[in-house]
Amino acid sequence: MNSRTSSTGLGIRIEGLRKRYGEGDMAVEALREVNMIVAPGEVVGLVGPSGSGKSTLLKCLGAIITPTAGKMWLGDQPIFDNGWKTNDLRALRRDSIGFIFQAPYLIPFLDVTDNVALLPMLAGLSNDKARSRALDLLTELDVQHRAKAQPSKLSGGEQQRVSIARALANQPPVILADEPTAPLDSERALGVMRILNRMAVQYKTAIIVVTHDEKIIPTFKRIYHIRDGKTYEEAGEGREP
Ligand SMILES: Nc1ncnc2c1ncn2[C@@H]1O[C@H](COP(=O)(O)OP(=O)(O)OP(=O)(O)O)[C@@H](O)[C@H]1O
Ligand SMILES: [Mg+2]
Repeated sequence: MNSRTSSTGLGIRIEGLRKRYGEGDMAVEALREVNMIVAPGEVVGLVGPSGSGKSTLLKCLGAIITPTAGKMWLGDQPIFDNGWKTNDLRALRRDSIGFIFQAPYLIPFLDVTDNVALLPMLAGLSNDKARSRALDLLTELDVQHRAKAQPSKLSGGEQQRVSIARALANQPPVILADEPTAPLDSERALGVMRILNRMAVQYKTAIIVVTHDEKIIPTFKRIYHIRDGKTYEEAGEGREP
């Protein structure tokens, strides 16, 4: 049983998460009380002012930094309970978490297909199977005609769709997106949100989107606000409670 197969069905849950950077007088309480549930197939927004703890929360969830206290579950599997529950954080990151950043960060010397196929290859899939999975995803995201191109030859919107394909390539139960639509115009930003919503349902992925982008805020059924390291769930206007 690996970190992925044991966790189908339930998305992500966080309880009482805290993160302090530094010690003594220099300590910063970046997360004080974070509670969150994201179901499989659900896309939630995470909104808050600069310095409120958004990136810190994504880094904790992505096992890039270690929380100070609290609990996190992937599906029914505890991944953090006042300490990591696995010794292999690299496998946790590779198999369970997909990242989408504001900039696509594609690898310039690999073609589009290999950019998407790389993670499944690292996870042990044969090169042929990984490339075929990559092509399927590129087709779903409507960039298959650029499959053999170098990333630098693609438009910004095409690069962002490739980075979404890459995030989905290992079919992770969780995708973390940090300002994924910031550089895109309105139509493309809404297009990316439609893709994320469709992919979330299709692959039963729980997706958290950090955003300041007014254009896409109305697309979320649920939004978590974060202020001074504390989360508040808001069922906003036009949103379901
Ligand atoms: N490595 C670090 N060491 C010390 N303090 C840090 C570190 N990283 C972040 N902080 C502090 O933790 C708090 C939360 O930072 P974080 O980067 O999570 O905010 P954010 O909500 O992502 O802000 P922004 O919208 O500007 O990206 C801030 O006060 C920040 O200065
Ligand atoms: Mg940030």
